[in-house]
Amino acid sequence: MEGIVDIHNHILPGVDDGARSIKEAADMCALAVEEGIRTIVATPHYHLGMQAAGNERRDNALQLLEEEIEIRGLKLQIYRGNEIYYSVQAVEDLRAGKARTMGSSQYVLTEFSPGAEYSYIRQGLSNLIQNGYFPVVAHVERYKAVACEKSRIYELLELGSYLQINVSGIMGMSGRKIKVFCNEMLGEELVHFVATDAHDLKNRAPRIRKCADYIIKKYGAAYAKRLFIDNPQKMLWDEYL
Ligand SMILES: [Fe+2]
Repeated sequence: MEGIVDIHNHILPGVDDGARSIKEAADMCALAVEEGIRTIVATPHYHLGMQAAGNERRDNALQLLEEEIEIRGLKLQIYRGNEIYYSVQAVEDLRAGKARTMGSSQYVLTEFSPGAEYSYIRQGLSNLIQNGYFPVVAHVERYKAVACEKSRIYELLELGSYLQINVSGIMGMSGRKIKVFCNEMLGEELVHFVATDAHDLKNRAPRIRKCADYIIKKYGAAYAKRLFIDNPQKMLWDEYL
C-alpha cells in the first residue's frame, strides 16, 4: 500500500526518547518511505510541566529534518503534533499552544500510564471532548484497564474517543494476548488508526508494510485504506471520521 499516513511516531531528532540524531531521523524517514509511508505526523512526547521553549526545539528539529529530507529527495511530508500524556492540565496547555493537536486539527493524540485506572482514562477523555477536542487514544492495547475489556472499549467509543493501535500490537511483538485483542478489535472495525510509534531503526522502527498487507488480507482492502489513508487524512483536514 502506498500513500500511508503514520500518525504516531517519534521521528524528530533530539527532542524525546525517539530519534537521537538528524542522521538517525533521516534514515527512519527513508525507511518509512520504503514502507509506503508518504505522510508523517511527528508526535514527540508532551507531559505536564514541559517548558514552552520545547516547541521552539521541536520546530528547529523539524526544520533540520525537512532540509535533510529534501537533500535526500524523499517524498515525505511531515506535520506537527504531540503525544500528550494526559493530566488535568492538558486542556490548558493545548489552549495555550504549549501542547499540540494533530496538524491544525482538533484531534489530540492522548496517552495514559499503562496502569491507569479505567475511571481516570474515561474522565480524561470526557474532559478533552467537553472542551472541544477529539481525543485519539494512543496505543489503546497497552492499558491494562481497557485492553481485553471489550465493554470498556465500547464505552470509550460511545463517549466520542478515537482509537489507535500500534503495528507491534497487531503483529505479536507485544505478546499473544495483546495480538488476539488487537485482532478482535480489527475484526469488529473498532479501530480508527494503526501507526508505527517508531522510536529508532532497530526494535521500534517505522515498519508498516507487512502489517498493512496482513490487514488487507484478513480484514479487507476497504478497511485497510480507511485505517492507513482515509481516516488520517480526514483527521488532518479536521473532518469527522
Ligand atoms: Fe509514542
